[in-house]
Amino acid sequence: MRYSSRIIFLCIFAAFILGVILMLYIIISTSSISYKSRIKNFDVISAFRRKSKPNTKVSLLTIRKCLDLLPQPNFTSLIIDTEILQNIIENKCRKVSRAIKIALHDKMYQELKRSDQLGRKFSIANFSYPEDTDYMRFHDDETGRFARIIPRIKIRSCGEYQVPADILLFLEYWKRSRYIDCLNLTVERKPMEQVLDPVISVMHLAELRNMFVSFNMYPLLNGGTLLGWYRECSVIPHTTDLDFSVKYDEFDISIIEEFWKPSTKFLMNRRLGMPNDSFEITVSPVDNPGYPIDVFVMYDETNHSYVSGTNHIGMKFRYKYPLYDRYCSADLKGKLFWITCDPEGVVKFEYGPMWMKDHNSKNFSWFSSSSNVERNGHWDVAELDDVIQANFQQIN
Ligand SMILES: *[C@@H]1O[C@H](CO)[C@@H](O)[C@H](O)[C@H]1NC(C)=O
Ligand SMILES: *[C@@H]1O[C@H](CO)[C@@H](O)[C@H](O)[C@H]1NC(C)=O
Ligand SMILES: *[C@@H]1O[C@H](CO)[C@@H](O)[C@H](O)[C@H]1NC(C)=O
Ligand SMILES: *[C@@H]1O[C@H](CO)[C@@H](O)[C@H](O)[C@H]1NC(C)=O
Ligand SMILES: *[C@@H]1O[C@H](CO)[C@@H](O)[C@H](O)[C@H]1NC(C)=O
Ligand SMILES: *[C@@H]1O[C@H](CO)[C@@H](O)[C@H](O)[C@H]1NC(C)=O
Repeated sequence: MRYSSRIIFLCIFAAFILGVILMLYIIISTSSISYKSRIKNFDVISAFRRKSKPNTKVSLLTIRKCLDLLPQPNFTSLIIDTEILQNIIENKCRKVSRAIKIALHDKMYQELKRSDQLGRKFSIANFSYPEDTDYMRFHDDETGRFARIIPRIKIRSCGEYQVPADILLFLEYWKRSRYIDCLNLTVERKPMEQVLDPVISVMHLAELRNMFVSFNMYPLLNGGTLLGWYRECSVIPHTTDLDFSVKYDEFDISIIEEFWKPSTKFLMNRRLGMPNDSFEITVSPVDNPGYPIDVFVMYDETNHSYVSGTNHIGMKFRYKYPLYDRYCSADLKGKLFWITCDPEGVVKFEYGPMWMKDHNSKNFSWFSSSSNVERNGHWDVAELDDVIQANFQQIN
């Protein structure tokens, strides 16, 4: 009797355990299925997907045909003439009667200049690969007031001429190349530990920048990261995350699928808002989750630009900026980043007239402290599921 009751007890116990395991399995699998399918079938992705990048690979033959129409230099010359490069892409080669813009490596530039061999057929800039940076730096006499920097590019040789291997990419870089220096002000603050190491921060930011560039997006420093660069040429010591923005007219939502691939270097922690008016994601390096990067989509209106915020209960905010002129470049700890051409105007607008002074991040509220923030209504309850998604990596 005692023996059989023990068996019955064991059977019931085993059935109970099995039941629990089964239930857990069902809960886990259905929740991950519903999350996954909701994320991956996120229908705005298809609605907002861009046309794929036009194929702009130009054959060496076409390049040669175009270059043969130009005066030939007798020294290695990188063509930086945007009109000629555009003509090459469009296969509309023609003679030009003005001086052609070329760039010489600094060493050769110095040599030729010394021996007065530069001639009149060319408008000559010099360039170098500054040490401990990821960019090339150009100077020319015409634009002597400012330098230009662009990410280091691959170059194709064609006789003495050199041509950027990806001409379209070079033209995009060149548009944004005007260099602006940071102020390097000394900011008074109590001694404190740096939360994010500046060198590690820019390493991850540059990695994410490259990923965006491969999707034809040219992210800009934004918010506290822009302020830190401009004011102190660094990452503000008490800041706990990094900020990028991407202009809406460049934004290609298919980049999100990259963050779901097993090979991804960044995980997506958060996705907020709708792509057409309020989109924001937070990603963090797979191997360094303590360095989260917010990427805001920046939208233009008639007289201003804005990025959006959504809090955890679905309130919407707008951060206004002066209409954003995106076409300048900066050095942050040796890495190139794109910035507004009016950093002072933008940080003043966002942080007010006291932007030079430190505000501790701990009592800086992202929805009430900035001087450029305003409420922008509330998401409908029915929309919340779609517009607030967090911590995907724990589900995938
Ligand atoms: C390059 O050509 C110019 C004339 O166009 C000539 O004066 C100069 O000596 C040449 N330099 C070299 C290095 O051949
Ligand atoms: C290039 O030319 C500019 C102005 O002519 C000069 O100041 C600079 O030292 C040269 N070299 C580099 C690498 O910019
Ligand atoms: C900023 O100033 C400090 C010292 O005043 C200097 O060591 C540092 O190199 C400067 N940084 C930049 C980016 O100019
Ligand atoms: C954005 O898209 C959503 C969903 O398609 C739509 O309901 C909303 O009206 C759109 N907003 C704007 C500003 O176009
Ligand atoms: C934009 O600014 C101009 C000039 O300041 C003004 O006339 C116009 O009403 C503004 N437009 C909007 C939509 O605010
Ligand atoms: C930030 O904290 C300081 C002192 O802890 C306080 O005096 C100040 O009012 C706070 N500022 C804000 C915006 O809360």
